[in-house]
Amino acid sequence: MKTLVVYDSVFGNTEQVAQAIGRALGTAPEVVVVRVGNARPELLSGVELLVVGSPTRGFRPTPAITQWLKALPAASLNGVSVAAFDTRISVEDTGNWFLKFMAGLFGYAAKPIASGLAKAGGSKVAEPEGFIVVDREGPLKEGEAERAAAWARGLVTQ
Ligand SMILES: Cc1cc2nc3c(=O)[nH]c(=O)nc-3n(C[C@H](O)[C@H](O)[C@H](O)COP(=O)(O)O)c2cc1C
Repeated sequence: MKTLVVYDSVFGNTEQVAQAIGRALGTAPEVVVVRVGNARPELLSGVELLVVGSPTRGFRPTPAITQWLKALPAASLNGVSVAAFDTRISVEDTGNWFLKFMAGLFGYAAKPIASGLAKAGGSKVAEPEGFIVVDREGPLKEGEAERAAAWARGLVTQ
């Protein structure tokens, strides 16, 4: 299945998750993993599965991911399977009640990414998913790269 994984990453954690997802789905040229800054519109041509991920920053995706999604023409993802993920801090692990309250109100990056993909006509094949970093700059929580790979395999067994 021709697959494109588009991600943004500031400290490298979301990149690690994106690469784990890509490896679980196959190898180039069938599966391409690309940073959002290099995700030229031509890369979407013929894609059957599009996976987009971002770090959660201020309860949202990065501006680059938001802009990339906004720039997708209406109906450009018709017939394309889509899935969204983010990386985030676990409010349970931090025990920070204020962050927990705010995250409860405003959420995480994956949901708005999923909305952007749906707006462009994509067909959601999984609920938006979050992968955990243990501190603001990471690293990824133990086992999260493996969980991301398992999540990715689930996207193609629909
Ligand atoms: C400025 C800033 C804002 C952040 N906002 C949130 C947030 O709203 N919710 C959250 O769970 N994590 C938040 N984080 C933690 C990020 O999610 C974490 O840095 C990210 O998962 C790391 O991914 P990356 O290495 O790919 O950049 C924030 C981190 C920074 C530096």
